[in-house]
Amino acid sequence: MLRRLTRRSARTQARWQGGARRPGRLFVVAAALSSLLMACDGGAGSAAGADVAAGASGSAASARDASVQSNSRAAQGVKLMKIAAPAQGGQTRAEVYAQVRRMTVLGKQMFFDPSLSGSGKMSCASCHSPDHAFTPANALDVQLGGADMHRQGMRAVPTLKYLQAVPAFAEHYHDSDDEGDESVDAGPTGGLTWDGRVDRGSDQARIPLLSNFEMASSPKKVAAAVRAAPYAGAFREAFGADVLNDDDATFKAVLKSLETFEQSPEVFYPYTSKYDAYLSGKATLAAAELRGLQLFNDEKKGNCASCHISQRAKDGSPPQFSDFGLIAVGVPRNRALAVNRDPRFYDLGACGPERTDLGHRAEFCGLFRTPTLRNVVLKKTFFHNGVYHSLEDVLRFYARRDTNPEEFYPVVKGKVQKFDDLPRRYWVNLNTDPPFDRKPGDEPVFNDAEIKDVMAFLDTLTDGWHPGAH
Ligand code: HEC
Ligand code: HEC
Repeated sequence: MLRRLTRRSARTQARWQGGARRPGRLFVVAAALSSLLMACDGGAGSAAGADVAAGASGSAASARDASVQSNSRAAQGVKLMKIAAPAQGGQTRAEVYAQVRRMTVLGKQMFFDPSLSGSGKMSCASCHSPDHAFTPANALDVQLGGADMHRQGMRAVPTLKYLQAVPAFAEHYHDSDDEGDESVDAGPTGGLTWDGRVDRGSDQARIPLLSNFEMASSPKKVAAAVRAAPYAGAFREAFGADVLNDDDATFKAVLKSLETFEQSPEVFYPYTSKYDAYLSGKATLAAAELRGLQLFNDEKKGNCASCHISQRAKDGSPPQFSDFGLIAVGVPRNRALAVNRDPRFYDLGACGPERTDLGHRAEFCGLFRTPTLRNVVLKKTFFHNGVYHSLEDVLRFYARRDTNPEEFYPVVKGKVQKFDDLPRRYWVNLNTDPPFDRKPGDEPVFNDAEIKDVMAFLDTLTDGWHPGAH
């Protein structure tokens, strides 16, 4: 057995020491349901929690079936129930499930509905395609949107899968699962988007709907679209007969429905990869996949699992392949992006410019949230600025960034411009644990054959595996 891997180095931990204790672990999955659960009887137990999660799925499977389907869901359920407030309102549990189901069905319809956008041409699914783990079907670095569909975004589109496990953003995160030691400060962690600037799916959904380079809509336009939509009747049934008379109430209900849809377990966090089957003893990994897993976990080689967690948590819940930490890895500047034509412009992640609350705090500059690697082979664009388009390139970057920096950064007059997308005063924020502990002349972290093995392993993280598949 591999021993459980620590999350960040002592150095990183020390840098973040002395902060406030973590706020309560607030799961995104719980957010949309929490208000509903406030009204429900709040009964305890994992099965009940799983019932709620299953209720959110809106699938044909009954809540009872789902509750026995997998331990992992039960584990999610436990977390869900932990935050659920006790009874308050008059809704019965059955009513709560019914409402969640209605919102899930509506949220799904809206997710695919381009009429919500200012251009009438763009839906959430335009950028978050279900066939690509809710990332774009095209291989553009960043997507085009806006009223004329020609405005370029500045960040690559992340997957929407496995976001239920992202904790609320905290500057100082203490994970009780971290070798049982809650005093370990893992540093800034969690929140949605690459910079962790919102905690709830509903607050997140507001961003693309209103962004002038994405869906370029407004609460008024969204409400008008819902009034004219085939689902207007169902919308009234779910949110009250008068809801459509009020633009803001309609907009809020749209956001909440999208958030609820994003929490459908069978769509967004099914845990059906070959690696999940392997963890539960139902599949064996091929030799190359196993070698890749070892390289991925090896603290002196890839050390990937120190951030992209690969083992079950203590409560038995499956690994998310991210600890959701915000980390600076020094991704090269993407000179193809319009925003980067201005040499003074830098996307500094947690310290701005998209995120504004930490703008004056230098220690947050260059930090982006560690993405899950589940389904990563379905992606066509990698890293926050979309600078790479193949996993092989990403792995070469990890393997050779420090031994052969000239392969990744511009060379000007014979000198490598390393970390060209992060002003020098923020380089102290860069992670220096393996695989980022090398220097020119050292052995690269992986050779070409090892890169192939790690790629073979990453291939086992794609959902939808079944015995008989490779
Ligand atoms: C034009 C492309 C585009 C459209 C349309 C779009 N998104 Fe996104 N989405 C993005 C990008 C880019 C990000 C990363 C944003 C950032 O980091 O600032 C993102 C991030 C997200 C995230 C956070 C993911 C994470 O890893 O934390 C969620 C959730 C999400 N989008 C949901 C939606 C929903 C719901 C809609 C429709 C209302 C939508 N998106 C429409 C491009 C898009
Ligand atoms: C210190 C934490 C850390 C370690 C160690 C680490 N990663 Fe990452 N990984 C990140 C962060 C943060 C990002 C996003 C960086 C960005 O876009 O600025 C990322 C992004 C990625 C991506 C791109 C995913 C996407 O959706 O764009 C891949 C693939 C990846 N890592 C694989 C690996 C592999 C393989 C290893 C081991 C060789 C590894 N990582 C080690 C933190 C880490």
